[in-house]
Amino acid sequence: MAAPNLSMNLPADIPSAQAEAIRELLGALPEHRQTTFVLRARRWWPTLVSGLSIYPDPAAAGGRALELAARAFAERSDDLHALDERRLLEPDWFQQQTMIGYAAYTERYAEPGTGLAGVADKVDHLRGLGVTYLHLMPLLKPRPAPNDGGYAVADYRAVREDLGDIQDLANLTGTLRANDISLCLDLVLNHVAKEHEWALKAKAGDAAYREYFHVYADRQEPDAYEATLPEVFPDFAPGNFTWDDELEGWVWTTFNDYQWDLNWSNPAVFCEMADVILNLANLGVEVLRLDAIAFMWKRKGTNSQNQPEVHQITQALRAVARIAAPAVAFKAEAIVGPGDLVHYLGRGQHYGKVSDLAYHNSLMVQIWSMLASRDVTLAAHALAQIPDIPGSTAWVTYARCHDDIGWAIDDGDAAAVQLNGFEHRGFLSEFYTGNFDGSFADGLVFQHNPATGDKRVSGTAASLSGVGLAAEAGEDGRLNDAVGRVLVAHALMFGWGGLPVIWSGDEIGSLNDPNWDNLPEFAEDNRWAHRPALDWAAVRALGDHPESPADRIYQGISAMVEKRGELPHLHADVPAHAVPTTDRGVLGVVRRHPLGAMVGLYNMTEHEAYVPTWWVDAQGVEPHAMTDHLAGNVPELTEFEDIKLAPYQAMWLTA
Ligand code: GLC
Repeated sequence: MAAPNLSMNLPADIPSAQAEAIRELLGALPEHRQTTFVLRARRWWPTLVSGLSIYPDPAAAGGRALELAARAFAERSDDLHALDERRLLEPDWFQQQTMIGYAAYTERYAEPGTGLAGVADKVDHLRGLGVTYLHLMPLLKPRPAPNDGGYAVADYRAVREDLGDIQDLANLTGTLRANDISLCLDLVLNHVAKEHEWALKAKAGDAAYREYFHVYADRQEPDAYEATLPEVFPDFAPGNFTWDDELEGWVWTTFNDYQWDLNWSNPAVFCEMADVILNLANLGVEVLRLDAIAFMWKRKGTNSQNQPEVHQITQALRAVARIAAPAVAFKAEAIVGPGDLVHYLGRGQHYGKVSDLAYHNSLMVQIWSMLASRDVTLAAHALAQIPDIPGSTAWVTYARCHDDIGWAIDDGDAAAVQLNGFEHRGFLSEFYTGNFDGSFADGLVFQHNPATGDKRVSGTAASLSGVGLAAEAGEDGRLNDAVGRVLVAHALMFGWGGLPVIWSGDEIGSLNDPNWDNLPEFAEDNRWAHRPALDWAAVRALGDHPESPADRIYQGISAMVEKRGELPHLHADVPAHAVPTTDRGVLGVVRRHPLGAMVGLYNMTEHEAYVPTWWVDAQGVEPHAMTDHLAGNVPELTEFEDIKLAPYQAMWLTA
């Protein structure tokens, strides 16, 4: 069907060759689709080109990207076009209080050998939990082991053979969509496996592909960069550069020596990745987790993290996705200090233009810090320093994930509350690895860095909360407290607002896997201790032993999910503010929603705690009309009009 006005309507500064190609691609589509594309292209072209201003010829790179978008748009299924419309009508879909996330490894969630199809077979467990978002850990074709749990991708257009193929992936997204579950996949964009086609071509001497990486003939440049670069894996991959005989050069490898960092200052890399995104979008992937995004741009004299160009690139990638597949949301995985973190959700010129979601690493760390110290002072201060995020974005809240916990406690925050940051981080490491007197946890030390004193920690939520040690000791009181910690941690992440993500197994209190190092390819990396296969026997037994930790944790989390869904106050469009209460063991979280204020109270200790009604009143919740939505009742008051919280009790109060 001809579209006479199309060429006129496309943005004028698209290079003519690309404009021509786009016109041809769209010419085959029904008129309403053509109109849609042109409207979106006009809407996002300025955003795209301004993002690409880091390159010498932004319009050329933009034109190429727009052509890719047109091709993907033309190929997109009707089903997914309908999803685009749905999401455009409901742009806050990922911010809603009904959103519940779950994260798992395909092969550790599905029954052994059943792969992606096996995940669909197990969709009932997700539905039962109220899950609306599923993050399946890296499943695109990686290099052979070791591959950093799949974060060394050899082919972005193929699925890990033991899990299925591309059609299985498309089928799974369809099944999940039919169950109102959005699939999130990792987009590893900082690096590729050294077996990826681009790396192979570079090694074979193709100059254009050599430019896809940061390669240096001798140590001069690498040494200059190293002077200010930290080490991500000091234990098993020290240094940030690796010599490669075939390349005859040092290649930048921030993570493992087999993960080659991409050179994002090359616009060809931008176009390749834009195309990868479009391809995943057309398979029905709805959320892309932008892995290790902080590392994408390098600058001498800095730690080469959080550089402004990262946000330019994200803005441009997002503009491409908005044009072809607006159902897709971006989630930044930037495990960086609080001051840098908020930029990933858009500040200044990038406001509303970069990622839709970002991990709230700070909240996660503070949860564990509060539980260990039985004191919320530092958390309340540190969380209050984090600026409000744009109203169109949301935090991903979590108690822990597949990675270790790095103690991201800011020295300035610590000093502000009379703590020494270095010592507090040291305390948390010792505490959570069971080396501190009175510790309840049995985590493992991950990547001890003697140069900085850093000791990160591996462990499941239940193990870090003390469920394992208490059960071993057979002490009911201790076990109650441990279960209480798992639940209060989840109550806080559910009650913050945003998208809470449950790590697979935490919903039934799974402990560290004692056999994590049985497979030789995992033996060096104890993060596998907290990535156990889901214990389906335990899931099936839920309900049989109401007093067991598994049942209590599952019931507790299910109740929170249900209550959360009924509370519009928890929509992510209003910010959450952490505030100290009158009790140093109780954190307050205030959300000033147009419907009225909501106050969350979280007792992070094993002692009873009291918060005066005047305090709640001052936050905007009228004490004589208040309800605790978690318990579904009016909170008990003492004769002094104090609200009484049981050990580790959480309350969600509104009037
Ligand atoms: C992210 C992943 C982590 C991986 C790293 C390198 O931080 O969460 O597991 O090791 O990126 O891709």
